[in-house]
Amino acid sequence: MLVDTHCHLDFQQFDADRDEVIRRAGEAGVQYILNIGATLESSRGACELASRYAQVYAGIGVHPHDSRLFDRKAEVELRELALKEKVVAVGETGLDYYRNLSSRQEQISAFNRQISLAKELDLPLVIHSRQAEEEALRILKEAMPVRAVIHCFSGDENFLKGCLDLGFFVSFTCNITYKKAQGLRDMVKLTPLDRLMLETDAPYLSPEGFRGKRNEPFQVKLLAEAVSLIKGVGFEEIANSTTGNAISFFKLR
Ligand code: NI
Repeated sequence: MLVDTHCHLDFQQFDADRDEVIRRAGEAGVQYILNIGATLESSRGACELASRYAQVYAGIGVHPHDSRLFDRKAEVELRELALKEKVVAVGETGLDYYRNLSSRQEQISAFNRQISLAKELDLPLVIHSRQAEEEALRILKEAMPVRAVIHCFSGDENFLKGCLDLGFFVSFTCNITYKKAQGLRDMVKLTPLDRLMLETDAPYLSPEGFRGKRNEPFQVKLLAEAVSLIKGVGFEEIANSTTGNAISFFKLR
């Protein structure tokens, strides 16, 4: 069994065939799907999917891109959403200094407030960090103790070590299969199995051979196979450990 710990099935890319996508995932052995919120609206969508499908769980949060929209009202609504059944994380939240769609100040403020919310609600954080590793780590360190997973890991060895030292989990997407992603594959090698999780980030980041197409949660199987090859560990062991990590980290049941 496998878990896709991060995808966005509430997005309109899935409007035409969402049932089918979720069915296909189940057939590929994906036991649970975590639909992670990116905006208030998509956090609502995540909760709605979680209530409709037994295998879907929700994260609620505002992506760093949309930090400028994270006001008091948004915080109040996130807090309300968090009370719904099957909400298992706050996220995605964090910093994105690559695209800078919100100012750095807005990003840091929204990040800090979502960290506080996660602590208040006793939920783990799903962290998005792109070209902001040092700052993200500094903020998280200050906020300790927190439980966090670094989603779509794209940092270097230093960042990886910093995250592991704080007890965080690291999650990899299908971009580790890209021809030019040897650096990422090295990070997969360095991540202990008891800290590693899998995610598709669908509809984004389709694996090599499917690039440019919509990604789907069933591809987490291909991802597990890739991790198995990179680490030289059997597929079953990769599936068991990543699934066990996801179940205990997000308290799925
Ligand atoms: Ni995402």
